[in-house]
Amino acid sequence: MEYETPLFFHVMRYAVRADRDVIDMVSGNPDWEPPEALREGLREYADLESSEFQYPPSDGLLELREEIAARRGVDRDQVVVTNGAGEANYLAMARALERDRGSEVLLTDPVYPYYPGKTTLLGGSQRFVAAGEDGQLDPERVREAASTDTSCLVVNTPNNPTGAVYPEETMRELVAVAEEYDAILLSDEVYDHYDLSGTFASALGVESENRIVTDSVSKTLAITGFRVGYAVFPHDLAEEAKSRHMLINVAGSRPAQYAVLDALRETDPAYHEANRELLAERVETFTGALEAAGAEYTRPDGAFYVMARFEGYPGTLENVEALIDDIGVAGMPGEAFGDSRSDWLRFALVTPRVEEAAERLAERFG
Ligand SMILES: Cc1ncc(COP(=O)(O)O)c(C=O)c1O
Repeated sequence: MEYETPLFFHVMRYAVRADRDVIDMVSGNPDWEPPEALREGLREYADLESSEFQYPPSDGLLELREEIAARRGVDRDQVVVTNGAGEANYLAMARALERDRGSEVLLTDPVYPYYPGKTTLLGGSQRFVAAGEDGQLDPERVREAASTDTSCLVVNTPNNPTGAVYPEETMRELVAVAEEYDAILLSDEVYDHYDLSGTFASALGVESENRIVTDSVSKTLAITGFRVGYAVFPHDLAEEAKSRHMLINVAGSRPAQYAVLDALRETDPAYHEANRELLAERVETFTGALEAAGAEYTRPDGAFYVMARFEGYPGTLENVEALIDDIGVAGMPGEAFGDSRSDWLRFALVTPRVEEAAERLAERFG
């Protein structure tokens, strides 16, 4: 079996080894603080009895699953706490493929590169549906691409890399397409707390036995290193997903789950509001400079990313490396996200140096 290491790691390594100061706009690692309750939870954990340092329940701490279930309006038995949304997506796609409804996985173009990687890993075949220029997904195009061989449709809202937030109507229609073909709609909602448009609609808003929602606190609480995510399964798909999770991981990390539970219970909505404001300011700063440089760019409705296209400078790995060497700004090649954005570069707004990066780009391309 062949599958590629995501290009992401390659660019990160190149940036770290560069012989100059580099502004990192590659990763999706937030540079803002986690909530204070998270740090308090961790400190508290250090003084617990050693019995609390042993395996947690495989599907996650009961109170954490209950907290998630209450927030998402689902039954706690449907919730599996995973090693980030990364594992949640894997479990969901594996579950969809082993239902024997087909071997095809419908993905969007542009796409978050781990989905095609996981599809191949799981022995599925990929089929891409083009998103519009604004990043929106037309459910009719998805319907046209779907067939009796479709096992799974994978979508992500708010979207990495386009910044699109799909409206409620789109989510309803996507669930309907999944039901028509008895496939699974997998909705990855890791950026749900970074909706800048106020239009985010979770797939959980549509009652169905044909959808799985994945999410995580990596972005929500600015703790990508904790590796706490979750999947919400329909009742009849949950048990086998839990077995797969157990066979792969035994269980997740107990201290991480403990601190996350504390943070979810104690954190005020103002924490998330402040992060959205910070992000919105960075979008303004960065796109303002791109405008001045005469570049084409996207203005995200959500998530962390801006895509830019510079005349005569396609989004190849080679060009990304040259930009690191020449001006010390590291982005991601658009080609990593599929054919449709191969002329573009993606920049993650997760550095306080957004303004400086924008100035360097404006100087280089303006
Ligand atoms: C769309 C999307 N899904 C999943 C992930 C991974 O999330 P986690 O850290 O929870 O595994 C990312 C990380 O960048 C992402 O952008």
